[in-house]
Amino acid sequence: MSTLVPTLLEEARALGWIHEEVKAGRPLPALEAHAVAHAVALALRGAGPGVLPRTAEASITGPFVAHSLNAALCAGVFATALRLDPDVISALVMAALFADIGQARTGFDPLAGGPPTPEQWDKVRRHPVEGARVLLQAGTPFELPAVVAYEHHMALDGTGYPERPVKRPPHFASRLVRIADAFTAMTEPRPRRPAHPPDAALAQMDSESGTAFDPELMHAFAAAMQHLPPRPIAVE
Ligand SMILES: [Fe+2]
Ligand SMILES: [Fe+2]
Repeated sequence: MSTLVPTLLEEARALGWIHEEVKAGRPLPALEAHAVAHAVALALRGAGPGVLPRTAEASITGPFVAHSLNAALCAGVFATALRLDPDVISALVMAALFADIGQARTGFDPLAGGPPTPEQWDKVRRHPVEGARVLLQAGTPFELPAVVAYEHHMALDGTGYPERPVKRPPHFASRLVRIADAFTAMTEPRPRRPAHPPDAALAQMDSESGTAFDPELMHAFAAAMQHLPPRPIAVE
């Protein structure tokens, strides 16, 4: 495995423990969650520009941890390409890292098996609200992650979930994380399908630019990804 960036294996273990705590109905361990997010942001800075680091595969860390770390790294790379302020980049990394934490409270893991049944799909659609609740209870540093958790499956055109009475554009952070999260999900293998090659994922996302995805951010994301190595670099 490449050692271009520091290993995130300990952070992956800590994230797995955080997930188990939330799954058991306990509060988000805020200090540990903050520390893990900080370590991921630092690792990203250590990797330097133009690198899309990848964590260990889901077979090692479990699918939730792998997906969350990959999405956070992708969001950080994207935010770096946009030349955002380092504090903003760190906030976006944390938001992406915990965007799916609500999955621990729905009783269904969408990353593990085949396509969800209608009842399981109802549970999937609940994870943004469950995640926002968990994060809001964790205090002030988790306010932006709570917004992003709530909005990261909302589309620009008012579709997506959760249902909301007044359609409105999601927060900038949510629109950015949505793109990084979708790209990460598509380029990861699932038990029910192989990973999409990055080019194919970008082409599919581009066809939904302006509806599912913010067009300006989507354009910037595609440009940023084209300057990265065609195959992701493993962290571990
Ligand atoms: Fe999600
Ligand atoms: Fe996700």
